[in-house]
Amino acid sequence: MKEQIKKLKEEKNAVILAHYYVPEEVQEIADYVGDSFYLAKVAKESTADKIVFCGVSFMGESAKILNPDKKVLMPDTTADCPMAHMVKDGFIEEMRQKYDDLAVVCYINSTAALKCLCDVCVTSSNAVKIVKSLPNKNILFVPDKNLGRFVAEQVPEKNVILNDGCCPIHANLEAAQIRDAKQKHPEALVLSHPECEEGVLALSDFIGSTAEIIAYAKNSQQKEFIIGTEEGVIYKLQTDNPDKRFYFPKSGFCCPDMKLNTLETVLDVLIKEDKTIEVDESLRKGALLPLDRMLELGK
Ligand code: 13P
Ligand code: SF4
Repeated sequence: MKEQIKKLKEEKNAVILAHYYVPEEVQEIADYVGDSFYLAKVAKESTADKIVFCGVSFMGESAKILNPDKKVLMPDTTADCPMAHMVKDGFIEEMRQKYDDLAVVCYINSTAALKCLCDVCVTSSNAVKIVKSLPNKNILFVPDKNLGRFVAEQVPEKNVILNDGCCPIHANLEAAQIRDAKQKHPEALVLSHPECEEGVLALSDFIGSTAEIIAYAKNSQQKEFIIGTEEGVIYKLQTDNPDKRFYFPKSGFCCPDMKLNTLETVLDVLIKEDKTIEVDESLRKGALLPLDRMLELGK
C-alpha cells in the first residue's frame, strides 16, 4: 500500500499532509507532518495540484479556504473535531454588543462558519503571541475554554472572556492521573497540551502545541517524560529520541476521529479522488480573513 500511495501521489502531483495524531503508518508516508499551524502554512505555500489532508475536517477546510483552486481531499470526510462546533448560536453577537472594542479570537479548531464571525484565528503554538499583539483590551476566545484560560494567564493586561467549549479527549485527562504517573516516574518531566484542564496544566513542567512538546523533549537534557497529549505524538517522540522514555498518564489517550486516517483510506482517496472538501465561496471569503491574519501575525 505504501508503494502504491507513493506512486499515485507522484503521478497526480499530490502532496500528503498529516497531523501528529494520525496513525504512525500514515505519518510515515506523509510529505509533511506537523501541528496545526505548520500544516496551515504548508497548505498555503504548496505548489502541488492536490492536497491530501490527513487530519480532521477543520484542517481540510482551512486548506481549501487557503487554496480555492486546488483539489483538497481527505481520506475520511467524517473525521471531525467535536470542539469545532462548541459555540452556541448568538453568543458571539451577544458579546460584541456587550463589549465595545471586542476582538473575537478563534482557535483554528473551529468550523468555517464560526471563523467567519471572528477577527483572527490562532493555534496553540501562536495564541499567546497573537492575543498579545492585538490592540483590543477585551478578547472573546472561542471555542476552547482551556486554551483560552491558558492564554489569559499569559496576558494579564487583557480581559479574556471564555466560551464553554473543550476538547473531549484532552479535558478527560485528570490531575490525579498526572500525580500517579509522577509517583511512578519521579524523574520525568510533564509536557502537556494547553487543551488540558487547569489542574493538569498546574502539574506540568512545559505546556505547548504538539510540535512544541516534540521540540521540548528533543532539546531537553532530561531522559524521561510524561506526555499530556494524544498518543499519536509517540511516533515522532520515539523516532527523534531513541534513548529517551515517554509515558502516557492514562491508556487510550486517543482521538478517534484522527484515527480514521489509515493507509487504506489514504490509498482509496488517491485512487478515486472522491472525498473532496468544498467550501461555499461566501463562507470561504469570510473565513479567509481571520486565517490570513493569523498567518501574518503568527510569522
Ligand atoms: P496542535 O496545533 O498542537 O497540533 O493541536 C491540534 C489539536 O487538535 C490538539 O488537540
Ligand atoms: Fe479535536 Fe481534541 Fe481531536 Fe484535537 S484531539 S482534533 S481538539 S477532538
